[in-house]
Amino acid sequence: MKAIIQQRYGGPEVLTVGERPDPKVAPGEVLIRVRAAGVNPVDWKIGAGYLDPLMEVQFPITPGWDVAGVVEAVGLDVHDYRVGDEVIGYARKDWVSLGTYAELVAANVRLIARKPASLDWSRAAGLPLAGLTAYQALDRARVGDGDTVVVHAAAGGVGAFATQLAVARGARVIGTASERNHDFLRGLGAEPVTYGEGLVERVRTLAPGGVDAAVDGVGGESVDASHELLREASRLVSVADPRAEEVGGVNMWVRPNAADLTELSRLADDGTLTVTVDRAFPLEEAAEAWRVSQEGRTRGKIVLTVA
Ligand SMILES: NC(=O)c1ccc[n+]([C@@H]2O[C@H](COP(=O)([O-])OP(=O)(O)OC[C@H]3O[C@@H](n4cnc5c(N)ncnc54)[C@H](OP(=O)(O)O)[C@@H]3O)[C@@H](O)[C@H]2O)c1
Repeated sequence: MKAIIQQRYGGPEVLTVGERPDPKVAPGEVLIRVRAAGVNPVDWKIGAGYLDPLMEVQFPITPGWDVAGVVEAVGLDVHDYRVGDEVIGYARKDWVSLGTYAELVAANVRLIARKPASLDWSRAAGLPLAGLTAYQALDRARVGDGDTVVVHAAAGGVGAFATQLAVARGARVIGTASERNHDFLRGLGAEPVTYGEGLVERVRTLAPGGVDAAVDGVGGESVDASHELLREASRLVSVADPRAEEVGGVNMWVRPNAADLTELSRLADDGTLTVTVDRAFPLEEAAEAWRVSQEGRTRGKIVLTVA
């Protein structure tokens, strides 16, 4: 199969396009013919070696955890999926080796769900990791009807989903973004505020009594601002800064979860959740996709499409 291959830690410059043997399909796994692979910041963070203390990495690696595609084969003991089924997955394994930036990927059925019929391949591939992160972060922050929630980096992959899911739960969302994304945030149902110096005061103008919960995809000043604004410190959930724990909040890592992913798929199909694809690149241009992702200005998602 054709795949993106990385022989050593590094940035976009170490990604090459090459051939790898087709993945084996272990019991409990399906083999997926990839139609699109989502690009997430964690892909290039792993690529650079930042997660080396946490995760086994067996070079050469093929990056990528997000996938949308068609089941090409099923392993032993797989009864819930058949050849030809259209699926999505947050196909994270316990070690980094064969990822989704490829023509084929094997994934355990615990990591996948049926593709939302209403989404094209690119949008479907943008949903799993960021969607699950947003969904699980709102659960951890106990966001519900009537809450006022600050979502930091509300225009990004995680933030755009967190905004829409919180609105669907009946919450009021104040979302941080630069000015150019304010109309986009309004379209998602949020009240936009600009981040940086004076953020706390700008949020207080909208919510004088502070906020009930905060979902943070930025870290640093957004953790401090959240802590100042929250009525209850434990309702800060950061996916970007471990320091959230020091101020009484939660530092969260998203978990693969087929039931949550099935629910996200349903929410996409019933129109609750839209997926914005900022840029789609052909698989062969994965290095350029990483460069764009690293700029930190993505609106919604970046994806790779596989011919
Ligand atoms: N722990 C986990 O399980 C987990 C899961 C998913 C993601 N993450 C992490 O969470 C972070 C966000 O992920 P993502 O996929 O949403 O990233 P992303 O899509 O690349 O985020 C891009 C967005 O960030 C916004 N942004 C940049 N600087 C900002 C700031 N100082 N304040 C507010 N917004 C800012 C940009 O808006 P403007 O262009 O308007 O500035 C842009 O829309 C990353 O660090 C990622 O690694 C962690």
